[in-house]
Amino acid sequence: MNLPMYMYNKHSVFFFSEIDYLYFLLRYHKIIITLKVLSVMDINRFLNSDIYKNYKYKYNNAILVDQDLIDEITNNITSILNKKYINVDFFTTKNRMSIFRFNDKRLVFKMSRENDDIRTRYKNMLYSRYIIDHYNLDLLYIPAATIIDIKSNDKVYTLLIEEYIDLLQNKKRDYYFEKFVDKLDDTIHQLALFICKTGFSDVTFRNIPIMSEDFKKYDKCYKRIALIDLEDLNIAEYGLFGRIGARGLLRCVKSLKQLNIVSSVAKENGIDINRYKFDFEDVKNNYI
Ligand SMILES: Nc1ncnc2c1ncn2[C@@H]1O[C@H](COP(=O)(O)OP(=O)(O)OP(=O)(O)O)[C@@H](O)[C@H]1O
Ligand SMILES: [Mg+2]
Repeated sequence: MNLPMYMYNKHSVFFFSEIDYLYFLLRYHKIIITLKVLSVMDINRFLNSDIYKNYKYKYNNAILVDQDLIDEITNNITSILNKKYINVDFFTTKNRMSIFRFNDKRLVFKMSRENDDIRTRYKNMLYSRYIIDHYNLDLLYIPAATIIDIKSNDKVYTLLIEEYIDLLQNKKRDYYFEKFVDKLDDTIHQLALFICKTGFSDVTFRNIPIMSEDFKKYDKCYKRIALIDLEDLNIAEYGLFGRIGARGLLRCVKSLKQLNIVSSVAKENGIDINRYKFDFEDVKNNYI
């Protein structure tokens, strides 16, 4: 091994065996990793940090929007908010947002009568990106996005503009989670960790779709999911075990192995899973 086997100061020389040296290196790296994990910021600290500014700058520049489209939205704002404008395709949504795209399909636009809803959504997306980077969650994908304010009849409207992502969607919502069950173990692991760290609560099939990948030989093909609806970063237990209107990750998994992944990640993150004993039993019965 080509490593220096000794350390010395002006009084003495310490000799290290190779094993000692390896041990020292491992401990050193473990300390660094531990410090990195401890230093993760909560959302409020993040929003007041320079990292937030950097993320804003980096991801704002990833989206280019034609001024013509912005003008068209500005001129038709009322019919867009009423979901009546015929030159765009509206996506189905359960809440009051207008979500639409133009014919070129490159971008998705999201608007609400409450600008704060849109702003919160955007901040949550940036915080989620930070968590994904911090824990290297490479199977979770957040679309590039930016927000802009537009003015119409003296009123300001905030518009969230996102990269359009090709998604695998089927009328039977869980179809692809079932079909690609053997590919999704790591994804479920990463999503469980993400939920524990962010409190992502609205976990249900339509909000965590599997991405349709062009290149089938790509090793992450059908393993990546898109997080397109991060409006609700709230309570991790909702995201893991469900609440009214969202089934939770526990009821999105499709194998016993994935169920155990959810359980162990929850435990590692200090969640008392005994409180959800009956939910686990219930789901387990589907796979035994
Ligand atoms: N970036 C995107 N790329 C492709 N499709 C998208 C994107 N964002 C949203 N969609 C589509 O629009 C639908 C609604 O989007 P989203 O979940 O953001 O809206 P929402 O109003 O919060 O919905 P809900 O409350 O019903 O979950 C999604 O289920 C998806 O089909
Ligand atoms: Mg949604």
